Amino acid sequence: MIEIRNANKVYRQGLKEIQALRNVTLSIGKGQFLSIMGPSGSGKSTLLNLIGGLDQPSGGEIFIQGKPLHGITDDELTLIRRRQVGFIFQFFNLLPILTAAENAGLPLLLEGIPFSKVKPKAEALLARVGLAERTEHRPEQLSGGEMQGVAIARALITNPAVLLADEPTGNLDSRTSEEIFRLLTGLHDEGQTIVMVTHDPRAAAHGTRTITLRDGGIAEDHSTGVRA
Ligand SMILES: Nc1ncnc2c1ncn2[C@@H]1O[C@H](COP(=O)(O)OP(=O)(O)OP(=O)(O)O)[C@@H](O)[C@H]1O
Ligand SMILES: [Mg+2]
Repeated sequence: MIEIRNANKVYRQGLKEIQALRNVTLSIGKGQFLSIMGPSGSGKSTLLNLIGGLDQPSGGEIFIQGKPLHGITDDELTLIRRRQVGFIFQFFNLLPILTAAENAGLPLLLEGIPFSKVKPKAEALLARVGLAERTEHRPEQLSGGEMQGVAIARALITNPAVLLADEPTGNLDSRTSEEIFRLLTGLHDEGQTIVMVTHDPRAAAHGTRTITLRDGGIAEDHSTGVRA
């Protein structure tokens, strides 16, 4: 489903070069729940952003469902990002002036689809994440866990091939985090491919495979096949 071959990422800051990823080769199968661990600065977000087409590698190749993400135009990359991947972030990134249903439907609204068409699907996904009673709420009227639920619904609205999560519970207490993990593992049980970055080994254990990055390279790769 996702093939990464010899991916490198170099950031230039003035005269300094930072090699955020070195020769990463990784294949992520359909239906896998992969956790990416590693110390701060080891390249976790960089790798996730490359998989999601938020950024392009400096060298190497990345394919998602057989389609290259390297060496394509920004417009092509934008289309793949919109349709093939769903992103969730530590700070939810919801738009404060939109309701939960509008936030959840935003990727389709941005494609020019009218809200009347988007609404039923947005509401169904909000119900799936336990927010059937919250569709008209704005982010400030929601708890952190509820906001992340809306972000998960938004990530799923395009039926993405892969759900990418960067520290999805980094801003939530442990009880709320467990609720988010219950949602993610439930989606995984339904066949959703998930790649999640986390600092927390207990969080990582929700996945079926864990890779550990160190200095931009893969230092460890453990598959359990099943959840801990
Ligand atoms: N846009 C950027 N410009 C310059 N350097 C960057 C940029 N983004 C990341 N880096 C550098 O690349 C390296 C890897 O960063 P990355 O954000 O991938 O780490 P991370 O593992 O996600 O860390 P954290 O756990 O703190 O989120 C770091 O040294 C970081 O400073
Ligand atoms: Mg990061």
